[in-house]
Amino acid sequence: MNNSQDKSFIYDEVSYPELCYSLTHPGRVAAIGTLLGLRPPAVEHCRVLEIGCAGGGNLVPMAHSLPGSSFLGIDLSERQIDSARQSAAALGLSNLQFRHMNLIDLDPELGEFDYIIAHGVYSWVPGPVRDRLLAACKRHLAADGIAYVSYNTLPGWNNILAVREMINVRTRHLSDPREKVREGREFIASILAMVPHPEQSPFALFLKDYIATRFRRFSDRSDWEESMLLHDELSTVNDPVYFHQFATHAASHGLQYLAEADFPHVMPNDIEPENAAKLQQMSLSVVDFEQYMDFVRDQTFRATLLVHDNVPIKRQLDGEKLRGLYVSSRTRFVRDEDGKEFFRTAEDARWPAEEAITSAALLHLESIAPRAAHFNDLFKAACQMLNLSGTPEKAASVLADDLLAAFCVDTQLVELLAYDPACASIAPEHPEMSSVARHQARQSRIVSNLRHEQAELDTTTSVLAPLLDGQHDRKALLQALASRTQGAVTITEQGAAKVPEGTTVDEALARELEQGLATLAGAALLLA
Ligand SMILES: C[S@@+](CC[C@H](N)C(=O)[O-])C[C@H]1O[C@@H](n2cnc3c(N)ncnc32)[C@H](O)[C@@H]1O
Repeated sequence: MNNSQDKSFIYDEVSYPELCYSLTHPGRVAAIGTLLGLRPPAVEHCRVLEIGCAGGGNLVPMAHSLPGSSFLGIDLSERQIDSARQSAAALGLSNLQFRHMNLIDLDPELGEFDYIIAHGVYSWVPGPVRDRLLAACKRHLAADGIAYVSYNTLPGWNNILAVREMINVRTRHLSDPREKVREGREFIASILAMVPHPEQSPFALFLKDYIATRFRRFSDRSDWEESMLLHDELSTVNDPVYFHQFATHAASHGLQYLAEADFPHVMPNDIEPENAAKLQQMSLSVVDFEQYMDFVRDQTFRATLLVHDNVPIKRQLDGEKLRGLYVSSRTRFVRDEDGKEFFRTAEDARWPAEEAITSAALLHLESIAPRAAHFNDLFKAACQMLNLSGTPEKAASVLADDLLAAFCVDTQLVELLAYDPACASIAPEHPEMSSVARHQARQSRIVSNLRHEQAELDTTTSVLAPLLDGQHDRKALLQALASRTQGAVTITEQGAAKVPEGTTVDEALARELEQGLATLAGAALLLA
């Protein structure tokens, strides 16, 4: 039972992009478990297994962020495992191991893991291997552990399967995988351009949306763009499933559905309340309800959390559970022309500034962003802002309930974490980027930030990145920028731009530096 298909394994020929995936981080997974009444293992001292870890793009920054925990990544591609080992060695990570192996050979002697991750594997391996994947999750998951398994879903994938088929037909004579991808992309764009009456055609609308959303662009890694299409859409095996089928498959292995890693997804936020109530009435179980929401949303992908089937789950959410968690927010306070006050995210999700204690807490989180605060510290800071003495219990409950409600709407409004990502809100005198991000910046502009999110460097911050080791002060950083720009100032994608009129070179460079450092701090790329 193997999916390496005899000859060379396709991932050894074309590696998968080395990226981190925020939702897989135990700090986020454990927060969801806590909300649902579990007592997940402490993320600062846990064991993590990633199955299908590719070149370590996810596990390397994760292991760096949790130095007291231990990590094992396995993958069938030798070349990718070599690359992962090289990164771990270059960064001196002693809490991380990689093994080149087939998941079907996972040895019971490896023992149990508190968190298991299989991102982008389930739908992309043959049925029998998929079955062994869930069997491995069951066998290796600690009694109170949580497994993360992502997969493509129906009905959303029905349309995408048609695109896959079109590309496969068009490129069936080509053997070079990269050529296949390039030709396939162009072909889909041409088909779109030829659809008759495109403005009235649901198919044209779908293709347009498909190209816009699924052909991911990386500013400096066209090889990653090709690799993603090749391994995601065009993978030899690509079996999307209905959510209820996945849940049944998991149940057959003694695992039960906990929630989605993207927690707001389990809420019918985007469905009219009366329609959500109708779906609820039609549903006999949580799995039914979620399946019906997938029908309504034409869902294409899920990242599902699983636990052992004997673990009691409390689905009635309770703000009290927030008291042991860290909270962060990516909102700004806004007062509109009509005097309405609210907190708004970059994507325009909104939370009304109605409860004084919650508004004070969100203002505090805005002032320390992208850092998180422990709930107790956040409550204290909000009380101080409002001059409330003591620790008024009622206000604490209001705050906890409000933060929980906002988290259920959008994690940019409020994010809950079971650990404290130690990032700076403001660039210190000797700014330091994590060694992982500096290492990654040598190969790509997409790096992992201290919150285990993908962040993109621009031209200025790419120039600064190698010098942000905590040893260079502003003066040294200015010198580096000056030598790079040679008398001109703003470093644009095209090169160096002229000093704006009325500004000295020194002033313009200093401004450029401060802007670059503020961007890095805002992107959670600087250590506290
Ligand atoms: C689509 S990629 C996803 C990689 C990574 N998890 C990510 O999301 O960036 C699938 C990965 O699973 C690995 N893989 C496929 N079949 C496997 C098997 N039987 N055992 C172990 N790894 C396997 C591939 O080598 C590849 O790295």
